[in-house]
Amino acid sequence: MLKVAPSILSADFLNLQHDIEEVAKDKADLLHIDIMDGNFVPNISFGWTMLEQIRKVTDLFLDVHLMIAKSNEYLDQFIHAGADLIDVHIENTQDIDQVIKKIHAAKIKVGLVINPETKVETVLPYLDQIDQVLVMTVHPGFGGQQFIPECLTKIAYLNQLRKNKQFNYQIEVDGGINETTAKQCYEKGTDIVVAGSYVFKNDIKNAIEILHKVSE
Ligand code: DX5
Ligand code: ZN
Repeated sequence: MLKVAPSILSADFLNLQHDIEEVAKDKADLLHIDIMDGNFVPNISFGWTMLEQIRKVTDLFLDVHLMIAKSNEYLDQFIHAGADLIDVHIENTQDIDQVIKKIHAAKIKVGLVINPETKVETVLPYLDQIDQVLVMTVHPGFGGQQFIPECLTKIAYLNQLRKNKQFNYQIEVDGGINETTAKQCYEKGTDIVVAGSYVFKNDIKNAIEILHKVSE
């Protein structure tokens, strides 16, 4: 079944615990946490202290998407705050081999993220070492944007490659997910869809159920 990762960027920050408990009750498969620094992306969300608080109130798997300029320098903080998986952007990360090793040494998972304008081939050298490829289907920074359909070919490519070479990474998609775009992504081989506004701006239970049903 297609997995659903609600992005708390669109949740009610003043009632975050409530919203997290709600998505857990409504069978969200994991939680997606967007860290933005106003530098790598033109928006600021929150830092690792928020992640620490979230970790205290949920057992959900925490998928932490770093959209920050110097991700290499902040890995320890996010590891210690309780991330289960850390996604770093290929566009701004130095020494990717080292980053992968460091995250794995902490016994958590690692994902590489590609922006819409980034060629999928950039992740090729790392595919045998990583747990996830996160395909951005909007320009990172804000919830509620329109899905960019040109990114679908990247998903198909990654899915084919994983079959041919027996790689183990999962394919996650982030940005502009709704019932229609989730189906398109699933058909190309996506394992997990991140959904922010679609989940939190609608009836939460119903939205998660609809996204799960896409794979039926
Ligand atoms: C965008 C973030 C997304 C965002 C998705 O930069 O990485 O995770 O929350 O929001 P929606 O689902 O509304 O496009
Ligand atoms: Zn994200």
